[in-house]
Amino acid sequence: MAPLLSARGVNVVYEPARGSRIWSVRDIDLDLGEGEFVGLVGESGCGKSTLGFALTRMLRPPARLSGGRIEFAGTDIADLDGEALRRQRRNGFALVLQSGMNALNPVRTIESHFGDILRAHGREGEDWNKGAVRERGAELLEKVKLDGDVLKRYPHELSGGMRQRVAISLALSLDPRLIVFDEPTTALDVMVQHAVMETIQELQRTSGFTALLISHDLGIVLEATDRLLVMYAGRIVEDQPSSDMLTGRHHPYTEALLNCYADPRADEVNLGGIPGAPPDLSLDQPGCAFAPRCTEVEEFNRHHEPPLTPYRRGLVACHVRARQEAESKEVPSGV
Ligand SMILES: Nc1ncnc2c1ncn2[C@@H]1O[C@H](COP(=O)(O)OP(=O)(O)O)[C@@H](O)[C@H]1O
Ligand SMILES: [Mg+2]
Repeated sequence: MAPLLSARGVNVVYEPARGSRIWSVRDIDLDLGEGEFVGLVGESGCGKSTLGFALTRMLRPPARLSGGRIEFAGTDIADLDGEALRRQRRNGFALVLQSGMNALNPVRTIESHFGDILRAHGREGEDWNKGAVRERGAELLEKVKLDGDVLKRYPHELSGGMRQRVAISLALSLDPRLIVFDEPTTALDVMVQHAVMETIQELQRTSGFTALLISHDLGIVLEATDRLLVMYAGRIVEDQPSSDMLTGRHHPYTEALLNCYADPRADEVNLGGIPGAPPDLSLDQPGCAFAPRCTEVEEFNRHHEPPLTPYRRGLVACHVRARQEAESKEVPSGV
């Protein structure tokens, strides 16, 4: 079956000032299958949000999609704009942001937020009068476990967790086939984080939309997702089934992230950060971007950027792992 979303050679550049360029997302090839729940992790500044914005065509200046194709349900959305893009978005894809940054208008009730979306993008020919909006709004709030009374409230009258639930229900209002969640629980306290994540997982199971969950919290992502993408310096460096992540060897960057994550099942817990910092994305550096921080670096890797190649049940961008994979598959001679 064709993937729901298929990205090829996607590049995003930020041009904050004349002559300055930051290559934030580089040469991303990515397929998201219908109904898949995929996680995207990496340290802050690795390009996760930028990629999420690019895939849902939400990039705003100074960011610019500088190349690539993004096929959504068979239509290339990379070049669409105006009414054609709105038509795709209607019934297509939605983005949910960290609660603090969600675009809830402080001077308008929750009901008017639903009214705006349904009237602007809802099914054509449907009369979104007050009663119809109220009914659909209450139905959508129920999906995220909120009472219909919330419709009458203003954003500041709600807790952070409730505001995030409202944001999710607004994203659901057009029955999207893909939802990108960018750090949906990061601004919430731990107990609330857990409850909101449970709701997201339940919704995904029952509604069957494809989900891309962006988070710097590997624990949350490993628990929720079927598949894990790891991003470093604007590139995807690993793509594996989530259930494989706690066993065997992975990209040295993924291993470093896993070492910082406390597996609740582990006997010993190592919570050291990863020494060093991600590279400056405004510089065009040759070789593997992780080489300066890599404990397994070899001279060759400093000069040659590794492509994503098959590794275990997924993909990895690492010369060392690619060689190990090839060696493990070699048929011993003289047998
Ligand atoms: N508004 C901006 N102006 C200029 N550069 C930006 C801006 N936002 C992000 N960047 C650049 O893009 C990189 C990736 O950012 P982002 O996608 O937000 O990373 P993440 O979500 O992984 O933390 C950053 O390291 C930064 O260099
Ligand atoms: Mg981000």
